[in-house]
Amino acid sequence: MTKTYGKTTVVDSLDLDVAAGTVHGLLGPNGSGKSTTMKMLLGLVTPTSGEISMLGHPMNRDTRAQVLAGVGSLIEAPSAYPHLTGAENMKIASRLFDADPANARHAVELVRLGNHMDKLVKNYSLGMKQRLGIAMALVRDPRLLILDEPTNGLDPAGIEEIRELIVSLARDEGRTVLVSSHLLSEIEKMASHLTIIDRGRMVFQGSQQQLYDAQLPDLYIQTPSARLAAELLAPLNPAETAGGVELSGLTDEQVAEVCTHLVSHGVPLHQVVRKRRSLEEIFIGLTGREGLSA
Ligand SMILES: Nc1ncnc2c1ncn2[C@@H]1O[C@H](COP(=O)(O)OP(=O)(O)O)[C@@H](O)[C@H]1O
Ligand SMILES: [Mg+2]
Repeated sequence: MTKTYGKTTVVDSLDLDVAAGTVHGLLGPNGSGKSTTMKMLLGLVTPTSGEISMLGHPMNRDTRAQVLAGVGSLIEAPSAYPHLTGAENMKIASRLFDADPANARHAVELVRLGNHMDKLVKNYSLGMKQRLGIAMALVRDPRLLILDEPTNGLDPAGIEEIRELIVSLARDEGRTVLVSSHLLSEIEKMASHLTIIDRGRMVFQGSQQQLYDAQLPDLYIQTPSARLAAELLAPLNPAETAGGVELSGLTDEQVAEVCTHLVSHGVPLHQVVRKRRSLEEIFIGLTGREGLSA
């Protein structure tokens, strides 16, 4: 999919591949095109070019209503009427879609709002509003949920509740969840698969494991002869640190060669450590910029 506003391309040839039954995180800094992508999937924004297929069906004018009947969504702000109760909002959502009332009862239990259904939504906490929004998205018993930054603005306890809810939607109920966030720390804990976008372009897509596996760990060598070590390893662009040198992008074989080389030139090795990068560091490596932490 591509979306262009005037001369600005905000989503650039994004090929989003979400496997059924997974929690798939759409991760990117603010303004990277997450909401635009989700709105295109939901038919709220028309793609400038590209094709969309969801739940095994291509989306076009003829199929759109039927495909979207299997998709529940929560886009940006909570969607309930504040001056009505939770129960009244659920009833409206149910009637709107002519849905089985049993779905709504199940959804309310799932989001653990059973004891708050008679309260006015304006008196709900933000976390409760988000949970009600997710319950409303579940009234048609959708196989796919598209949730845009559902943890935005929540406190840590609220974030944890939404996270557990999202994980259980996939793990216990077999649904597919596409969830966006600009915070790595959140996506990392709930999504098995990731699409990372930056300025509308995809910089990574795959499982979290693949993301880590694709990254060679950094090598840290502690030695009292840091200067000499840095000179010997100059072609590998080492960074000289307080008590040693640091290198990145080395294979296992190269690490062995580096150690042999240093020892044969009389450099004492006090510690040789390989350390995995954090997701944050990987993101910076992929995009050349920061911007995915709180
Ligand atoms: N209707 C619009 N007209 C013009 N530009 C837009 C419109 N909607 C979004 N954009 C721009 O597209 C970019 C991506 O926005 P968005 O999809 O909301 O990003 P994200 O959800 O990742 O924060 C931003 O630079 C935003 O200003
Ligand atoms: Mg957004």
